Order: sequence, then C-alpha cells, then structure tokens
Amino acid sequence: MGNNSNNNQREGWSTRIGFVLAAAGSAVGLGNIWRFPYVAGVNGGAAFLLIYLVTIGLIGYPLFLNEMLLGRKTQKNPVGAFRALAPGAPWWLVGALGVLTGFVILSYYSVVAGWALHYTWRALFEGFSPAADYSAEFGSLISSPGTLLLCHLVFMILCVAVISAGVVKGIEKCVFYLMPLLLVLMVAVIVRAVTIPGAGRGIAFFLRPDWSRVTAGTFLDAIAQSFFTLSLGMGAILTYGSYLRRRESAARDALEVVAMDTGIAILAGFAIFPAVFALGFEAAQGPGLTFVTLPAVFARMAMGRAAGFVFFLVLSIAALTSGISLLEVVVAWAMDEKGLKRFRAALSSGFVIFLAGIPAILGYSGWSGVRILGMDILDSYDWLVNSVFLPLGGLLAALFTGYVWTASKAAVDCELGDPASAWIRIWGFLIRYLIPAAIILIMVSGLANKFFG
Ligand code: PFF
Repeated sequence: MGNNSNNNQREGWSTRIGFVLAAAGSAVGLGNIWRFPYVAGVNGGAAFLLIYLVTIGLIGYPLFLNEMLLGRKTQKNPVGAFRALAPGAPWWLVGALGVLTGFVILSYYSVVAGWALHYTWRALFEGFSPAADYSAEFGSLISSPGTLLLCHLVFMILCVAVISAGVVKGIEKCVFYLMPLLLVLMVAVIVRAVTIPGAGRGIAFFLRPDWSRVTAGTFLDAIAQSFFTLSLGMGAILTYGSYLRRRESAARDALEVVAMDTGIAILAGFAIFPAVFALGFEAAQGPGLTFVTLPAVFARMAMGRAAGFVFFLVLSIAALTSGISLLEVVVAWAMDEKGLKRFRAALSSGFVIFLAGIPAILGYSGWSGVRILGMDILDSYDWLVNSVFLPLGGLLAALFTGYVWTASKAAVDCELGDPASAWIRIWGFLIRYLIPAAIILIMVSGLANKFFG
C-alpha cells in the first residue's frame, strides 16, 4: 500500500542522522527558547519542569512516534498518507487540517522569528544600554509595520531558499551545520549566565519546585507546550518521516529527537533564569521575558552585547530550522497532490504565507482595533493553533492509528519488533485511551475557559 510510481523519484534523507537532526531542528524552536522559559516562569519553575517531563513521556513521545510511522509507512504528504492507509474514507481531512495548520503557524511564526532577527541585528550594531526602556522599545518595534514586514520577508526568503534546494541539499545540509552550531552557542550563553554573581537564585528557581504556583492550568500549559515544542498535531513529523527509507529503529530515532528537544528547552532555562535573577528581574512576567527582560539583562552584564548577540542568533537559528519544516509540510502537499515542481511549490506557498502573516503584523499598528475573541490578530492565530488545531490534529492522528491502522499492524508494517511485546501494547494503550482522554480534557477546558471563563 502507498507505493505508486510517484515514489520512485521521491527524495529521502541521505543518512539516519539527517532525519534526526532535521526533526530535532523542527522541534527545537521559538517554543523551546522563547515560550518554554516564560511558561515555566509563570508556572513555578521546577514544578512545571517536572509536570512537563511527564507529559512529554506519556503524550509527546507516543504521538511523535505515531506521526513519524504514518509518514514512514506511506512515504507521502499528510493528505496522501491518510488516504493511502484508509482509501475512500474521510481520514484524509486530518492531513488537510495539518497542512492548513502548517500554513497558519508559519504565517505568524515568521513574524515572531522576525523579532528575533531584529534583536540579533540590534545586538550586533547597537548593543544594549542600561538607560533604555526595553518595554517601550519592544512596543515601538511591534508597532512599526515597515521594519516588521522586512524582517518577516527576510525570514520567509530564507525558508523558501532552503526548501527550494530539496530534502538533502536544502534541509539536511542546513540542519547538519546549524544544529551543532546552535548547541555550541547555547552552551556559550549558559557559561556566561551561570558565572554572573548571584546566578544561584535563578538556578534554584529552575531546580527547586514551587508547588504553590501549580494549578489545573499548569497541566494544560504543559500538554499544549508538549504539542507545540515537538511539532506535533500538524503533519511536520509525518512529512519528515515520509523521507525515511531505512527500516531500523524508528523508536530510537524518535527518542533521540524528543531527548534533544527537551534538553534544549532545559538548557534555555539555564541560559535565561540565572541572568534574570542575578540582575534582579522577575521570572514570572510572561511572553515579554525574551524580548523585554533579556535586553535589559544583557545591558547590565559584562560582555552583555556579545552574549545578547549570540543568544538572539541562537533564537533565530532555532526558528529557521522550525520554519523550514513548516514550509515543507505545505510544499510536500503541493508537490504530491497538486503536481507542482519543488521550486514553484516553495515560492508560491512561501508567498501566500508571507501575505497571511501581514495581518498579524498590522494587528499591532494599523489594525490594532481588530480584536478576535478579545485578542490581537497574532495572539488569535496562536490561540487557534494551540487550543484547537494542534490538539485536534494530534487527537485524530492518535485515534486513526489506535483504531483504524492499529498499533500491532503499525508495529509489523514498520518493523518495530514483536507486535505482542509489552512496549507496543503500552504504546497502543496510550494512543487509544490515555492520550485521547487527555487531549479532549484540555480542549474542552481550554475552550470553556475562553468562552465562559
Ligand atoms: N516546534 C517548534 C517550536 O518549538 O518552536 C514549532 C513548530 C514547528 C510547531 C514546526 C509545529 C511545526 F510543525
């Protein structure tokens, strides 16, 4: 099943590590460095970390493996994958939802990545000054549509350039250099951060759980964060999995990627909290942590300009390797299903996604009067994705494998080992019962909170 002549020319990773780095590149992104530390900061530091680790193990890893296997088995884009495994049934709509989600995420992800590019530039050419008001400065950046459009455009051009070059010469080559670079630079920022006098309080905050800040919302935040950070629920891992040829150990590949993603989120905590605490700032202040607090922190520390430049460069690199995976989902669909050549697919989808990001930019300036469910435009895109599209996509993909394809058939088809073995049975149980129940719970409570809370 799922092998037509089309697949003869389908590209595939040239090495096992190519897939692992590309999937880790997709997973490691703004979610790890921008979002994880502030969500952890609001939810009690180490307490959140522990809950997050449990959700990654029970929900994130099994779903990651699921999406990877769906791609590997079918060798197709998200729409084609579900159609190949369930011909004639409407399951292909789950793939279509994934492609749409990739489109929506990239349109605003690129805007936020543009902020990171702007701050990288600023660190390099202007540095940070203790006298500046970084809250006002961030406010003025996001209300300058010209600058933001330029940054958004640059980011989209970079994504289109990498994707146009193909799976091996574009994606694989890019992550082969950028992922190790990202790790080395991250370690450099951490060394600087933990050697500031007074850094210990930040380390303690991140390692000593404060359970008083844990609420029901903490669990919801942890589950939503697991989806976003592992690129789940929208076909990115499925698409990357579809370029896998080798038959050996999918379970191990998935484990490596999940471990790298979690490791980088933890490292981001060590890069940020020690410096924030040492210089007397608040860790629980939300999304502004990266773009408002950190510039003020860099302005006050020795070698702060270099540290700031490296930090924002890391953020930009992480965003780029995620952005390309989002674009690849749309491009793989346009190539497989619409018959476009790679370059045209990349250019046209990149262009439409660029246009779709413009309202998110204008939402802070010319269109600031527009409120959707009480949110500005960018936040409403983000809310729609995290509260509806990703959980729904992950839920349907889990139900599909759990009840239609079945864990034991997946194990045979993808040579995971004995389908009756304990771990396949546990995986099957998780995707049939525990994960759907957990997702339905977070979706219902998240929606109830939004509309009636
Ligand atoms: N995992 C990315 C991050 O943590 O920033 C975001 C993301 C990338 C989500 C790719 C979904 C995706 F397909």
